[in-house]
Amino acid sequence: MKSLPPGIPFLISHLLLVSAPPFAVYLVCRTLRARDIILPTWFWIIAAALSGPLFYAIHVSNKYRHFRRRAAALGATLPPDLVGKEFGNMDVLRGIIEAFTHGYPSDMFSLGGEMCGPLFQYKIFWDVAYATTDPNVVKTILATEFANYEKGLVCSVEEKLLLADANLSSLVVGAMFHSYTDSLFGTGVFNADGELWNKERISHFELFDRHAETAINKIKERVRSNVAFDFQDLVSRFTLDSATEFLFGSCVHSLNSALPYPHGMSPFSSEAEKSPSERFAHAFGMAQRIVSERPRLGWVWPLKEILKTSTDEHMAVVDAFIEPILQEALRKKEERVKHQNDLDEKESQDEETLLDHLVKQTSDRAILHDEGGRWSRWIRRHTYRTAAALTFGVYLLSQHPAVLKRLRDEIIEHVGPTRRPTYEDIRDMKYLRAFLNETLRLYPPVPFNIRFSIKEGTLPNPDPQGLPVYIPPKTAIAYSVFNMHRDPKFWGPTAEEFDPDRFLDDRVGKYLVPNPFIFLPFNAGPRICLGQQFAYNEMSFFLIRLLQSFSSVSLDLTAQPPDSLPPAEWKEAPGRKGKEQIFPKSHLTLYANGGLWVKMEEADAV
Ligand code: HEM
Ligand SMILES: *[C@@H]1O[C@H](CO)[C@@H](O)[C@H](O)[C@H]1NC(C)=O
Repeated sequence: MKSLPPGIPFLISHLLLVSAPPFAVYLVCRTLRARDIILPTWFWIIAAALSGPLFYAIHVSNKYRHFRRRAAALGATLPPDLVGKEFGNMDVLRGIIEAFTHGYPSDMFSLGGEMCGPLFQYKIFWDVAYATTDPNVVKTILATEFANYEKGLVCSVEEKLLLADANLSSLVVGAMFHSYTDSLFGTGVFNADGELWNKERISHFELFDRHAETAINKIKERVRSNVAFDFQDLVSRFTLDSATEFLFGSCVHSLNSALPYPHGMSPFSSEAEKSPSERFAHAFGMAQRIVSERPRLGWVWPLKEILKTSTDEHMAVVDAFIEPILQEALRKKEERVKHQNDLDEKESQDEETLLDHLVKQTSDRAILHDEGGRWSRWIRRHTYRTAAALTFGVYLLSQHPAVLKRLRDEIIEHVGPTRRPTYEDIRDMKYLRAFLNETLRLYPPVPFNIRFSIKEGTLPNPDPQGLPVYIPPKTAIAYSVFNMHRDPKFWGPTAEEFDPDRFLDDRVGKYLVPNPFIFLPFNAGPRICLGQQFAYNEMSFFLIRLLQSFSSVSLDLTAQPPDSLPPAEWKEAPGRKGKEQIFPKSHLTLYANGGLWVKMEEADAV
C-alpha cells in the first residue's frame, strides 16, 4: 500500500480546529438573525476573523492557569520558563534551529541551561515542552517513574516513517511494536548472561574477524598509496556487513565496493557507478537525515510533506535491498524445516542465525514478512551507533598519540601482534574498556533523547532546596546525555578532557559510583540498550584488529569535503568546542560531518 504523506492528516486535523471558532460565530449570527437581531456585516467579518485567535488565547491561558493550580495542589512548582522576545517564541525556535544546523551538539541545551538552569520549560507557539540536563530528573523518567514516561507517539510515528516501510498498514501495526520487540529481543539473544548468547558468541567473533580483515585490507591498500580514507564510511560498512550477516546469515558485502576518495580526487562519483550497497547506505543516511531535519520546522513540519512523504524514495531503495535477503533467509529456513529429519541436530544449531532463531520461535510467518521494516530499524541501531563510537574513538586516538600507544601496548601484551582476540582477552583488557567508556562519555552516539509524560507528575528539583517540579500530562521532556557527560558539576574540573584513566583511578569512586546516572551512553532503566554487550565486543574486536595492524593515526583535514569543518566562530569558544578539529553533528545518531578522513601508518611486522 502506498503511504499517506504526513501533511494530509496534519491538515485535516488542523483545518477542523481552525475553522471551528469562525463556524461558531456564523452559527451565532444565524441564530440572532432568526430572532431579527441584525448586526452590520463588517462586525461579523471581524468577529469571525478574531474568533480563532481569541479562542486560542483563552484556551492557552486556561491551560497555563490549570498547570499552576495543579502544581500548587501537589506542593510543587513550575520549572523556569525560557522566555523569548518574539511572538510565539519564534526567536527561541530560530535559536534551536541554528544550534541544530551550525552549533556544537551541546549548544541546544546550554542555550536554555545558562538562562534557566538544568531543568526548564520552553514554549514554541504556546506548546509547553521540558528540557533537562539533570541526572536525577533523567533517573526519574527512565527508572523511578518509568511507567509514566513513554517513548511517545511522535517518536514512534517518525521512526516508522523512517524505518518501517511507512505504509499505512505499518502505521496501524505500530501499536503492536512494543510487544513485537519483546518477542524479538526478550528471547535472551541479547542477554549477556543468557545461554544463547554464550553459544553464539564464538561465531560472532568468527564473523567479526572476517569482516574486520576485509576492512583492514582495504585500509592497507589505501595507505600504501598514501591517500587518506574516510574511516566513518569504512567502519559503517564493517558494522553493516557484520549486522546483516549476524541477522540474516548472509551479508550485504558493502565492504567489497571501492572506498571513496578524498574531496576533489574522486574517480567514481556518479550515482550509476555506485554499488548496490553504496546506494543502500546512501539511501539509509538520507532517510535518517530527512527525519532528523523535520523538527527544524517545529510542529508544522508535516506541511512540507503534503504531496509526498519525503522519505519514501529512500526507503524504497532500502527495502529493495533488504527484502530479497529476508525472503531468501525465510526460504532457506522453510527448506530446512522440511528436511529437518535428514539433518544432524547439531549441525543445524551451529549455523543458526538470529533470523533462524526467530523463525523457529514464531509460527506466524506473516508477522515476519510484515515486519521487514523492523529489520531496517534493528540494523540502523546496530550499524550507526557502533560505527559512531568507533569513529569518534579513532578521532580521539588521532589527537592523543600517548593513549594510542598505551592501548597498543595493552593489545600486544594480551593478544600479540597477529592472533585473533578471544572473548577472554577482551574481558581482561581494562584500558581498552576505559578507552571505550571515555569515548562514549565525550561523544555519546545517542546524544539526546526524549520521553513523553502520560499522566501529570512531579520531578525532582535540581536545586535541593526547591520544591518538586510539576510536569503536565502528555508533555515532552527532552534530555541531553551529551551535556551531562561533560558537566564539571558531576565529573569534576577535568570533565571536558579526554582521559580514559578517569574510569580506572579514584575518580570512579568519587564521581561515577555514587551517581551512576551521570553516564548513560546506553540509556538506563527497563529500556536500557539490549545490545550493550554485543556493542562492546564488536568495538573491542575491531579496535584490537586495527591497532594490531596500524601504529599511528592522523587526520587529513585537506581531504574533508568543503564546508564540512567546524565553523570559524567555534575557535573562540571555551573547552572542547574551541579545540574541535571536526564537526560533530547529530541526526538521531552522532556523526562526523563529511566523514573522518585519516591516514594511518602500518605497524612493523614482527
Ligand atoms: C555503541 C553502540 C550502541 C549504543 C551507544 C546504543 C545505545 C542505545 C540507547 C541510548 C538506547 C535507548 C534508546 C531509547 O530508549 O530511546 C538503545 C536501545 C536499544 N539498543 Fe542499543 N546501542 C548500541 C548498540 C546496539 C547494538 C549493537 C544492538 C543490537 C545488537 C542494540 C540493540 C538495542 C535495542 C534492541 C534497544 C531497544 C531496547 C528497548 O527499547 O527495550 N544496540 N541503545
Ligand atoms: C564502562 O562502563 C560500564 C557501564 O556502561 C561499566 O559497567 C564498566 O565497568 C565500565 N568499565 C570501565 C573499565 O570503566
